[in-house]
Amino acid sequence: MNVENRSMTTPKEKDKLIEEIKRLKKEKKAVVLAHYYQRPEIQDIADHIGDSLALARYASTLKDVDIIVLCGVHFMGETAKILSQDKKVLIPDIEAGCSLADSCDADEFKEFLKKYPDHTVISYVNTSVGVKALTDVLVTSGNAVKIVETFPKDEKIVFGPDRNLGNYINSLTGRDMVLWDGACHVHEQFSMEKLLELKKEYPQAKVLVHPECKKALRLVADKVGSTAALIDYARNSEADEFIVVTESGIMHELEKICPDKHFIAAPPEDGSCSCNECGYMKLNTLEKLYECLRDEKPEINVDAQVAEAARKPIEKMLELS
Ligand code: 13P
Ligand code: SF4
Repeated sequence: MNVENRSMTTPKEKDKLIEEIKRLKKEKKAVVLAHYYQRPEIQDIADHIGDSLALARYASTLKDVDIIVLCGVHFMGETAKILSQDKKVLIPDIEAGCSLADSCDADEFKEFLKKYPDHTVISYVNTSVGVKALTDVLVTSGNAVKIVETFPKDEKIVFGPDRNLGNYINSLTGRDMVLWDGACHVHEQFSMEKLLELKKEYPQAKVLVHPECKKALRLVADKVGSTAALIDYARNSEADEFIVVTESGIMHELEKICPDKHFIAAPPEDGSCSCNECGYMKLNTLEKLYECLRDEKPEINVDAQVAEAARKPIEKMLELS
């Protein structure tokens, strides 16, 4: 199948791609895991969709599978590989990185930790394996508060790399964790001014905010949570209008599970578009997913020694959450 001309996929070609992906999945005993920020057509063809925590759980429990295709970003693929070392882990586009993970270099983090030798190190899962290997326990936005609360109130903690999530945990738990100064370029881009305008326009709407957003936005939220927690809130809420302050890929699942509710995507500061997208997440396309299954590459591999060190804080997280 010719998939060179990516921008010219006709509906017929798209159907053919979907058919081929399904055939290859079966033939190769492959499972496709997708994050909620993936393109709609990728979410629709995935065997499982979820937030970072759910994707890690799937990767650690899959049986009778030879290949995992992680449709998300690189750190999610690394986590899957570490938890499933006997399986081949593929990612449709190897360039699908994460600005938050990039905001914390492992060597710099190691130097930083030298200032806090008696501190427990808790890191957000959006990190490189190098940072994970320096960590005592990992968290996702879905379990961060719960895991931090398992430590005594006076535990000295360094939290990295997301200053916004760290600040959110500090405010909910009354802790004073030392924060690494990192952030996600997508979630930091949301405009408070435009959110307030939307609130005026839709006064009944509930505001859903991801904890990677700045504090001011979290303060006007009706619900702060991971992608899965925001979806659950919308599903169970009696409200029928929601302003969504996270990456716009989540709109697909929200609209699918709540077809009678109205979701409004909050825009970024620069005003160039009406929603906010993570360019890294959107690098994965249906065409690349097909090629990746066909050619069994790009593959994610993690050095065995680093993987061993990184596996411990991931397993600790799964145990505590
Ligand atoms: P979730 O774990 O909430 O899905 O978040 C992942 C992520 O990358 C948010 O930007
Ligand atoms: Fe990373 Fe932000 Fe993209 Fe999530 S939205 S993958 S934190 S860059």
